Amino acid sequence: MKTYPSWRLTILDMIMPAPRHRPPLKRPMWIIVLVSMVSLMLIGAYVYPPRSYAACYIFSSDGCKSISNWLPPAPAREFTDDEIVARVVIRDILKTPPLHSKNPKIAFMFLTPGTLPFERLWDRFFQGHDGRFTIYIHASREKPVHVSQYFVGREIRSDKVVWGKISMVDAERRLLANALVDPDNQHFVLLSDSCVPLHDFDYVYNYLMDTNISFVDSFEDPGPIGSGRYSEHMLPEVEKKDFRKGAQWFTMKRQHATVVMADSLYYTKFKLYCKPGMDGRNCYSDEHYLPTLFTMVDPGGISNWSVTHVDWSEGKWHPKSYRARDVSYELFKNITSIDESVHVTSAEKKEIQIRPCLWNGMKRPCYLFARKFYPETLDNLMHLFSNYTAV
Ligand SMILES: *[C@@H]1O[C@H](CO)[C@@H](O)[C@H](O)[C@H]1NC(C)=O
Ligand SMILES: *[C@@H]1O[C@H](CO)[C@@H](O)[C@H](O)[C@H]1NC(C)=O
Ligand SMILES: *[C@@H]1O[C@H](CO)[C@@H](O)[C@H](O)[C@H]1NC(C)=O
Ligand SMILES: *[C@@H]1O[C@H](CO)[C@@H](O)[C@H](O)[C@H]1NC(C)=O
Repeated sequence: MKTYPSWRLTILDMIMPAPRHRPPLKRPMWIIVLVSMVSLMLIGAYVYPPRSYAACYIFSSDGCKSISNWLPPAPAREFTDDEIVARVVIRDILKTPPLHSKNPKIAFMFLTPGTLPFERLWDRFFQGHDGRFTIYIHASREKPVHVSQYFVGREIRSDKVVWGKISMVDAERRLLANALVDPDNQHFVLLSDSCVPLHDFDYVYNYLMDTNISFVDSFEDPGPIGSGRYSEHMLPEVEKKDFRKGAQWFTMKRQHATVVMADSLYYTKFKLYCKPGMDGRNCYSDEHYLPTLFTMVDPGGISNWSVTHVDWSEGKWHPKSYRARDVSYELFKNITSIDESVHVTSAEKKEIQIRPCLWNGMKRPCYLFARKFYPETLDNLMHLFSNYTAV
């Protein structure tokens, strides 16, 4: 959708009206002075376009965009040493075909404080698919108690995780590093203790393996809880225009997991300058680091939506958490039939961005997993599992 900057029309209105109406002669002087001043300002802006963003706000950002379109492109910024290093390393990783594996597996990486309430459900999900998956558990608070053989002994060395702090990203990196040790792992899925599967194993396996993109959520939110969290300390490497937001629950192809391992430049920027209480604002690295990194280094390589469904429609600070009474065949039918991703910005106008979920160019259901479910839903989920995954 294209919007036309209103000030351009204003200029035309001001320059053109003379032939149409004869200006009344007895206009009060002040109107003439005011109109001349405003016209001069606008003509000045036309002839000497503003170079800084601050100046653009006088005219609204739309006007600014079209002014900058008329300018010759800004000269490329000179990269720092660290940026040159980061760029060549990442470029080469992306250009190197992934390791060929005769036995490609998916790494399921669970980020949890302790015991996983849905182990019995996941056990059912994994049954009969030995050799096609590996499980990794990052238990940040206490040693989990297991009920499924698949999960026994799968904990990695973990550390404390504080919600919203960089330790969350550190835990994700720790999981990726451990899972990358196995060369058969070709795709990496991050899951929480409150996540449940929406489809059977084969469906999930084929959905993730038969495409060459990572499902990393990313969108531009110009509002206070999007770009409003950006800090100029991140310059010059991370510009505000590249700052993105997205849910942390990703799936990633092997090359992208390696990119995350290779990056220390952008990671460090987020560690230092995207944290709660930064410049009087709260920035959460787990919601911004990966969406921004991939938007900068491989925008076409990510889906821009997360395959883990969550319901924000109640408009509260936390998403809807499902109770036992909420779990029904109809709920799962509803979630698994969604084939468009929806992002709502936090700007005053609450712009809603709706995009089809395109999988290898085809419109398909968006979601493989869902959160957040209370542990009390387990029995209902077990009871319904074979029914809803058959959809
Ligand atoms: C994701 O969004 C970026 C812009 O941020 C865009 O360049 C890219 O093409 C999108 N990816 C897909 C798969 O549509
Ligand atoms: C994915 O594969 C398609 C063709 O199968 C190709 O056109 C596209 O460029 C690839 N995308 C990436 C990010 O490698
Ligand atoms: C399923 O979707 C329909 C149509 O949007 C809605 O009326 C219904 O309440 C939903 N049911 C559940 C359990 O979410
Ligand atoms: C599951 O599906 C079967 C066959 O369609 C049906 O008989 C059964 O009642 C369903 N179970 C639940 C819990 O919906």
